[in-house]
Amino acid sequence: METLLLDAKKEGAVETAAEIIKKGGLVAIPTETVYGLAANAFDPVACANIFKAKGRPGDNPLIVHICSMDMISDVVEEVPEKAKILAEKFWPGPLTMIMKKSDKIPLVTSANLPTVAVRFPSHPVAQKIIEKSGLPLAAPSANLSGSPSPTTFEHCVHDLMGRVDAIIDGGPCSVGVESTIISFAEETPVLLRPGYVTLEQLMEAIGEVSLSKAVLEKLGAGEKVLSPGMKYKHYAPKAKVSLVKGSSAQYVKYVNEHANEHGIFALCFDEEAPMLKTNTVCYGSEYSDAQQAERLFDALRELDDLGALRVYAHSPKTTGIGMAVYNRLVRAAGFDIITLD
Ligand code: TXA
Ligand code: MG
Repeated sequence: METLLLDAKKEGAVETAAEIIKKGGLVAIPTETVYGLAANAFDPVACANIFKAKGRPGDNPLIVHICSMDMISDVVEEVPEKAKILAEKFWPGPLTMIMKKSDKIPLVTSANLPTVAVRFPSHPVAQKIIEKSGLPLAAPSANLSGSPSPTTFEHCVHDLMGRVDAIIDGGPCSVGVESTIISFAEETPVLLRPGYVTLEQLMEAIGEVSLSKAVLEKLGAGEKVLSPGMKYKHYAPKAKVSLVKGSSAQYVKYVNEHANEHGIFALCFDEEAPMLKTNTVCYGSEYSDAQQAERLFDALRELDDLGALRVYAHSPKTTGIGMAVYNRLVRAAGFDIITLD
């Protein structure tokens, strides 16, 4: 398949992207979190093609993107009161909410679930494409299944060239990790995936929110997964990755003691690089969880480009946006954790 490359800054590009989607095609589009691979959420054939293009397991549901509160009535049966409060506070923005789906959303989009994930992105290019197409857009992250989510146009080209109808360049994504996901499918709202909107912020807005066990821990065989995406291996570079927990001094000492391992890289904070005797890839300042989120996926792809074989990643904290960074990194490490003390 020929893939059309578009630049959102050029006149007519957004309109072209919307036309392709209206005709049932697939377009990778920028959002504030990561790039998404978008198609008409009402079109079961187009949505099935998303799964094919990404190599995504059919039981992993898609997120539906809207560009106004009016649009939501076609997507969900009803909006719970607490979801309305969160919409008021965090939309447009990096928050996805799971609610009962409307009959208009085909089962292929929701992977046979009675619920649907909905998000109102703040990125102006995403908003314009939804608006011009006049359709809610199903869009998972625009990576090949299993690799880190794309945070730049170049990442999308690398993964999807020849597999989709078009990719539109809207520059690098500012948030850098996928949206926070909260489910209203159960009595108590559940945080399924941490993101830029933090657990602390959600609880401040609506009170009790439980944390899905899969966010921070490896689930045992047979444990129920609330979000199908959580059970798949994710974000993993080709190297074997371990997550190292401990202070900067402990981390630096540990990595330097292993410096002669073949193909070793430190995935570290900016402040640590000068003290390390190995190759390094930095993922932001130790003091900025927002910067770590923004940098992480590009750093994971860079490790592949540089041919890393053995990676020691310094663990971020698990509060605030750090929870999102930790959630992605511990999966990249396949839950291999080294605790120093
Ligand atoms: O920031 C984002 O959310 C990006 C951009 C493009 O919007 N999208 C994204 O989509 O990350 P994706 O498909 O890579 O991740 C969606 C996650 C998956 O883990 C999926 O299992 C979960 O959301 N999900 C979707 N619908 C669900 C549902 N009805 N119930 C439970 N989990 C659901
Ligand atoms: Mg994804």
